[in-house]
Formats: sequence, structure tokens, C-alpha cells
Amino acid sequence: ARNWTSPVVYPSPQGYGAGNWSAAYVRARAMVGNMSLEEMNNVTLGVVDTTSGCVGVSGSAPQHGFPGLCFHDAGNGVRNTDGVNAYASGIHIGASWNATLAYERAQFMGAEFKRKGVNVALGPVVGPIGRIAEGGRNFEAFAADPYLDGILGAQSVIGLQESVIASIKHFVAYEQETNRNPIANNGKPISSTSANLDDQTMHELYLWPFQDLVHAGAGCAMCSYNRINNTYACENSKAMNGLLKGELNFQGFVVSDWVGQHSGLPSADAGLDMAMPTSGYWNERQLKKAVDSGALNQTRLIDMATRIVATYYQFGQDRALPLGVGMPPNLLLPHNYTDAKDSASKSSLLQQAIEGHVLVKNIKGALPLKQPKVLSIFGYDAVQQSSFVPSVLFPQSWEAIGLGTQQSIGIASNAPVQNPPEVQNGTLIVGGGSGSNTPAYISSPYDAIQSRAYDDGTAIFFDFVSTNPTVVSSSDACLVFINEYSSEVWDRPGLADPDSDTLVNNVASMCNSTVVVIHNAGIRLVDAWIDNPNVTAVIFAHLPGQDAGRAVASILYGDAGPSGRLPYTVARRSSDYGNMLGPCQADGSLSPQCDFTEGMNVDYRGFLASNTTPRYEFGYGLTYSSFVYANLQTNINATATPSDTVTPVYTNGTTNDNVNNTAIGNGGLLSLFGSVGTITASVSNTGSVAAAEVAQLYLLIPASTSNSSNPRTRVLRGFEKVLIQPNETAQVAFNLRMKDVSTWNVTRQAWVVPSGEFGVYVGKSVLDTPLTGSFTV
Ligand code: NOJ
Repeated sequence: ARNWTSPVVYPSPQGYGAGNWSAAYVRARAMVGNMSLEEMNNVTLGVVDTTSGCVGVSGSAPQHGFPGLCFHDAGNGVRNTDGVNAYASGIHIGASWNATLAYERAQFMGAEFKRKGVNVALGPVVGPIGRIAEGGRNFEAFAADPYLDGILGAQSVIGLQESVIASIKHFVAYEQETNRNPIANNGKPISSTSANLDDQTMHELYLWPFQDLVHAGAGCAMCSYNRINNTYACENSKAMNGLLKGELNFQGFVVSDWVGQHSGLPSADAGLDMAMPTSGYWNERQLKKAVDSGALNQTRLIDMATRIVATYYQFGQDRALPLGVGMPPNLLLPHNYTDAKDSASKSSLLQQAIEGHVLVKNIKGALPLKQPKVLSIFGYDAVQQSSFVPSVLFPQSWEAIGLGTQQSIGIASNAPVQNPPEVQNGTLIVGGGSGSNTPAYISSPYDAIQSRAYDDGTAIFFDFVSTNPTVVSSSDACLVFINEYSSEVWDRPGLADPDSDTLVNNVASMCNSTVVVIHNAGIRLVDAWIDNPNVTAVIFAHLPGQDAGRAVASILYGDAGPSGRLPYTVARRSSDYGNMLGPCQADGSLSPQCDFTEGMNVDYRGFLASNTTPRYEFGYGLTYSSFVYANLQTNINATATPSDTVTPVYTNGTTNDNVNNTAIGNGGLLSLFGSVGTITASVSNTGSVAAAEVAQLYLLIPASTSNSSNPRTRVLRGFEKVLIQPNETAQVAFNLRMKDVSTWNVTRQAWVVPSGEFGVYVGKSVLDTPLTGSFTV
């Protein structure tokens, strides 16, 4: 087996105030210039705080006016407190393919963090990307594709940072929960899994979305728990100094994931700026002492403090509410209730919840429902679980009953890994762990359908308990609600639970219009019943947040057309995911290894490369209308990178926005984000109802010389969601950035535009592309 090692990159690039950061750096330098080394040391680490419910609080420098920062989870809403909304999860927004909604969601969410006195929102998540199908945290990110993750994640950063600092995570190549933290193991410690990957895969897959998020101005990045090529992410100089602060020219600060710091000086030298929730390595003024002894360069400590303070200024946190003011440490004790919700968020929340539903089967005119006389409803997922919980405890209890607890995360546990907590008795609106959220209320499917029944005079029969219920024979439709839970800390034990499959099969054996709705926190297989002709409609409902019921009812009844598309690949059987079904196991090793030998071929790329037919491909989804594509036009003006020119890569020490006469800024080389032209097409709605289409562009990029041996497949490089009236035609335009037509050349350590023929595929999904063409560079 190959011995994977991570190259070293020193010294750590200093933040210098690139682009729009310059004013913040001027102020930060002024403040930090007055700090003692001890004070600088103090702002680089978390402190114990019992006065707020913040999941982390940084050290302060009160004499200089720096109050410290409140950090709090996460990407799906303000967690573990009251007076906040429970937004749709990352995977749900991914399924919406709607960049505007991603932005709006983040805008409202960011305002809630701000009203709670939080300074740093611990999201959005663009890693894990979803390398393994059973990955426990795949639901927190948007899509199993770097391009879609990058676009939606960038919009999320922009929305959040109108109010607070966004912490993009988890940096980087963090793809499994199994062995995510080191284990003490009786004096023979077992390290975290090492994600072993080559440089090209790093750039084109795992780093890709982070570059978009840094370009969008992200102020904080969280280094991940895993090792990368055998060096911990939070002490990996290649990742932090080389990639993030070098190539991506990141001006903000790097915070460790909670208890993700495993060394003192190596982590500081490698580019870690702050350790959370405290530091066993820096807390006794070790950084100051190291500067005194000459073991640590003083400029590094100054840079750490300067980056933190500059980020504080850059996002107006000097004008923030008192730290953690709306976040009581214990919700069960009397406290002032801070309502952080904005009533203007309501319509957006509902729209987010609606647009992440993906209809994948609809036969015999099953949907939309047409004023049914009799509806039968099955499955515990149809009702809300809070009915079992004293309402005064509600936000806390929501997590305590199984959706992940505060204690279960962020702690490097020596305890043996437990099985996921049993979750049942309720509509699944979010996954567990730090990506969980605390809903103000829950609209369950049953509640929402009840109110429709009132309008239509429908009789409802239900059984939310049995997996073999009695079905009233005159049912117009049988709605079966099932779910697929997932949580931080655990990878999933499988991709379909047998009890839910049994329920669907039993209902379908008695009901000839069985409609299955799956609240799924990740990929869910359906082959146990998908070909049953009595299963007439199937919706992947993902994780809609608190408006789950209202949203699914509007789709079931046709008030809203389904407009989501799958942001991952649903296989026919688990084995079709091959090595990328489940996590790498330690197998007795004290240094667990996970070789990403598939390179870039994860999810749909892997299915294309191995010529495996999926059940439902990436990008797939139906609606209540139909579309015809025409008029493909390519207007691309890219020039191949000449072989005698090496694209400059910003790697260290430069203190202005220019490298070899090339402009750099947030995200690195700005030319990568410049347009090289557009590809356009027209889409006509040929059905009878208004409906949204998600037009998708895939490119087959020719191989440049040093590419890895993995077969190159088409890759997503554009999408546009358009609402089209019946008999009308919309124009869609995919703007391509230089980045989108480039590949990472390992030898030259540069993005290059390869010469040759680029394949162009435009259509409804990765496999259904009625328009094909090409352009040559
Ligand atoms: C650990 C998780 O990995 C991270 O995502 C989260 O933000 C922190 N714990 C804080 O809760």
C-alpha cells in the first residue's frame, strides 16, 4: 500500500488585508499592536463560559476593546435555544437547486444568530461532500457535487455574513464519522482516520467548494477532525498554509473543530489561529512562552491575533449585541425569552421547505390528489413527536429524545462507539448532532392534511404505529410516511430500514394507490418496493425544517409543483456504491487509513465511470408538467493555458494583491472567477400547469497531461431553475467561469484550461441530456 504523507508548507502566510479586507486589517493591526504577547495568546483560544449557551467563547482583550466572540452551531439554524426557526437542512436546499433561496435562508438565519448575540455561525457545511453513501453528516452539506456545493455554499456565506461571521467547514476531506476522533485505547491511542488523497482530487473535488466560499468572503474556516495524508487537519500545513491561506488567499482565521487540536506548536505553525472549545496546548500562555524562547516566530502569534480581530471588524462585530445575550446557558431555568425570528422569514421558510421535495415516481395520475373522499395515512413520520414531550422542555427535549445531544458531539470520546440513538415517533425535519436545530413549532404532515380534509370534506383513517395496518378499502390514496435518520457521530448502518420497507409493502398489498413520502437525511434506497404497481407516487421529502407538513401538503395537493431534483445518486442496491458505500474501518490499526483511490469519481462520477445504471440519477426529479429542450448555443472564448506559462499560485508572504502581475483576492487568483462565456438553451413547458424546471449543464473536460488515471466523466458546471408557464418558453444561460473549464495540473501546481474538445450536455439530469454539443479550446 502507498505510504501517504502530507507535504509541509511554511511559513504560514500572513493575513494582509486583501481586497475588501484592507480597512479591517488597518484597525486590527492598530488594536493588536497594543496587545501584549500574553493578550494575543489569550484571544487564540476558547475559554470556559458559564454565562451563555454559546457552544464556544473565545478569549478577550477587554483593555483593548475586544470582547471575545460567541461561536454557535450551525448550518441549519441556531441550535439548542428558543425563539428561533428550524430551517430546511443543507441537503434539502441542495435538492432545491435554488441559489436565491440558499441566500435568503442564510440571510434570515444570520439575523437570528445576530439577535441571539452570536458572532460566528458554525456553517455552512461543504464537507463532507458525500463520498460515502452512508456518511452520517451528508445531510448537512448541500450536494454530492463540488460545483453545486460551491454555488449554494457561497450564497449561504453571503447571506449569513450580512449579520455574523460564517465558519465554513469542515476543512477538509472530512468524509466519515467512524474513527473521526482519536481514541485513547488503554495507552495505545488510535488516531483519527487519515483521508489519503492525491493533489488533483483535492483541488477538483474537496477543495473546490471551499474556494467558492472563500471567494464569497468567508471570515472563518473550521479545520476538521480527520487526518489528511496522515497529518491532522488542524496541524496540516499543506491544508491551512498551502491551500487555504496560500492558494485561496484566505484572510480570515482558522478555528479548530471542537477538541480537534492535537498539538501546540505544530498546529500554530501549520496555520491554526484559534483552538476550541479550549486548548490543552495554548492555555497556559504556551504561545507567548514559545515566542519568548524563540520556538515560535512572533509574527505568527501576531498574525493569529490580527486575523481574529480583523475578522471581527470586517463583519461589524464591534457593533454586535453583548456576547451570547439571547442564549441562556440553561433553557430549563427562568430566563428572558429572546424572539429572534423575523416574521418576514415565514414565506421564505415555507418556500425552502417546498422546493427540496423531489418527486421520483408518479403513475396513474396519483398526484396531485384531487379532493379525495377517503385518505389513509400510515407511519409514525406523519405525526410530530413533541406530543410525547412536555412542551416546556421542548427545544431541549427535541434533541434529548434522540436527535443528537450536546454531550454527544465535539468531545473526543474514549468510550466505545455506540449505536445511533433509536429515533422514532415523529416527523423527521432535521438530522442529529450540531446540524440539528430547535423548531419554534412543527407542522407535521398529519396536521397539514387534517386542515385540507376540512376544506375537502375528506375522511381520514390512520394508523401511525403498526407496520401491518388495516387499510380501509375505499381509500382514494394511502399516504405512507417513512424516514431515514442520520446524525453526526455515526455513519449510517444502511441505506434503507427494513421496518419501513415492510410497512410500504404491506400497505401497497392492500391499496392500489400507495403514495410514499420519505423524510430522508441522506440517500435512501427504494428497490424493495419501487416497481410495485400499487406504489403510484414517491417523494424524497428530505429534511424540510419546521414547515415540513405544510410543504408536503402543498405538493401532494398540487398547490405547488414539485421542483426539487436529487443532489445525489440513488442506486438500485447498496453494493452499487462499491467501496464508497460505508466508512473505512480501522481494522485493528492504530493509524486508520482511508485511501480515496477513486479520485474524483464519487457519486454520479463513479456511476458514470463504472457504467452502473442507478435507480435515480443525480439531478433527477419529476414535476406535474413536462419540458422540451432546444436551441443549444455555445459562446465560449477560453484560451488554453499555454504550456510555457505557469499560472501564478499565491503561496506565501506576499503582502499585496498582485502576484507576477496577476490579481489575487478572496479565493486566490481572481481570473479563475472571470467569465469565459455562456452556453444557452431554451426550455418549453409543454404540459398544462406552471412548473419549475432545473436546467443543468454538464461538461466533459478534456484531460490535461498530468491528470490521474481515473476516467474523466462529465461534471456539473451550471444550473438554472426557471418557473415556466404552460406553452411558454424560457431561455436559460449558463455562465462559465475560467475555473469551470480548468483542471488542476499537479506538475505545474496550477489551474490550466486544457486544449481540445469539451463535450457539452444540457438537460434534466446527468443522464437525461437532450441537448449535446461541443466547443474546442
Ligand atoms: C463538532 C462538529 O464537528 C462541528 O461541526 C460543530 O460545529 C462543533 N462540534 C461545535 O458543536
